[in-house]
Amino acid sequence: MVTTDQLRALFPDEAELEVYAPPSPIDQRDILLDGELKRWTGATVPVRSAICVRKPDGALEQINLGSYPTTGIPEAMEALAAAVEAYDDGRGEWPTMAVAQRIDCMQEFTRLMIESRSTIVNLIMWEIGKSLTDSEKEFDRTVEFMRATIAALKELDNSNSRFLVVEGTIGQIRRTPLGVVLCMGPYNYPLNETFATLIPAMIMGNTVVFKPPTFGVLLFKPLLEAFQKAFPPGVINTVYGSGEKIVPVLLESGKINVLTLIGSSRVADHLKKMHPKVNRLRAILGLDAKNAAIVLPDADMSLAVKECVAGALSFNGQRCTALKMLIVHRDIINDFVSRLVAEVQKLKIGMPWEKGVTITPLPDLGKVEHMTRLVEDAKLKGARILNKGGGTACGTLFAPAVIYPVKENMRLYREEQFGPIVPVMSFNDVETALEYVITSEHGQQVSIFSENPETIGKLVDPLVNQVCRVNVNCQCQRGPDVFPFTGRKDSAEGTLSVTDALRSFSIRSMIAAKQTEDSKRILDKIVRDHDSNFINTGFIF
Ligand code: G3H
Repeated sequence: MVTTDQLRALFPDEAELEVYAPPSPIDQRDILLDGELKRWTGATVPVRSAICVRKPDGALEQINLGSYPTTGIPEAMEALAAAVEAYDDGRGEWPTMAVAQRIDCMQEFTRLMIESRSTIVNLIMWEIGKSLTDSEKEFDRTVEFMRATIAALKELDNSNSRFLVVEGTIGQIRRTPLGVVLCMGPYNYPLNETFATLIPAMIMGNTVVFKPPTFGVLLFKPLLEAFQKAFPPGVINTVYGSGEKIVPVLLESGKINVLTLIGSSRVADHLKKMHPKVNRLRAILGLDAKNAAIVLPDADMSLAVKECVAGALSFNGQRCTALKMLIVHRDIINDFVSRLVAEVQKLKIGMPWEKGVTITPLPDLGKVEHMTRLVEDAKLKGARILNKGGGTACGTLFAPAVIYPVKENMRLYREEQFGPIVPVMSFNDVETALEYVITSEHGQQVSIFSENPETIGKLVDPLVNQVCRVNVNCQCQRGPDVFPFTGRKDSAEGTLSVTDALRSFSIRSMIAAKQTEDSKRILDKIVRDHDSNFINTGFIF
């Protein structure tokens, strides 16, 4: 059983903090604007680590990591103006650049980014408390995604590098940018999920206003210079500060063509309506989810428990794809929960640099308080914490809590907890489990556990029409990144995968000419003399 004092003891003592080499505080004053790193002299927002230090009197204090600019509306409008100017209504250097050249810029950026790997990984770990192993994975997966995106764009462009002749019309069709993209990533994958939209948006020729997430801002500092070196001025511009204040103003300007946000559906819904011409705004959104695991009586119990624990509690349950409700058949519920509790009790709670750690500090005290409130609400309405010490909190640590039975009147029944809580409910008739998914506001993924092909087959058919990925005998997850990542209802808009993202951030445009001798002469000359970056039949190797 975990106690508050045991949790407190897991944080580093102030006297020995240096052993863990926390990053020296970074006063991040640079704003990337129109190709320049502008020095900010105004107010700043302090950055506190997810990790606390234990003071001599036992008190815990989140470690100071530095600060970043508190820019406001005027700075946001400057960033927007720079992106608008760089796009120049499609006439800018970047949107008209040959695809091969854009790829060169992205390759250069990737090279520069890799040089900062250790700094960025360390900052991911200290800013959001992600384990060192997972922080490394996040970085490497992102680089892999960038390489795959470059390869996919080559493939896409090469396949369009030819003319089509149909019914007497010669055409060439390529994918072209959409304009100015407002890009906002989430704190749980501050690098990977941000780049999952930022990179495809940029490489397709759009220009960007980028706002880093609430937690995980300093890790972008080494990248500002890399952006500046690798891309023409204005292709990417940064804004900081309160999203609530600046983002609506950016959208109200009507100059944002694409809103890309990994965050809450409530915010996305509100923001889209701020655009004066909603029809001109494309939205690529990764939103809330409450993925369920349906465990049937004939499931391989050890496999189901193992996958449910990993699905619910990897990175403290702070994944949009996490399993956030376990729905288990009544015949096996007792066996399932006792095995589940045993596995949860084995999870190592500790600091992110520790080997084999699963449960690490949450990014701020507010998250811990939120977890406590959700558990209290469930307890008040008749649920129990099944694992001893579950829900114990100290500083930014929150011991994982298995809650059963979760019922409809409890917040945990529908609310996305986004943290180390494992709600469990039972069912008798599979219709109850199906109903839970059907009546949910979310529609990202589901997991089903059974060893019976017929049962799985029958369940898959309705479920694929409710969510966008049904995981058979495994937890929910996004990867591999070439698979489509999307959702129904309040869970997503648009699809992200290596290839889908390139499509999401572009539109097909074409040239068309009558199949006459004159057209042939003109097109032939354009191609031969490289008069256009669009009309060409070159091959990118
Ligand atoms: O937070 C949502 C992430 O995209 C989940 O990705 O399933 O690979 O952890 P993951």
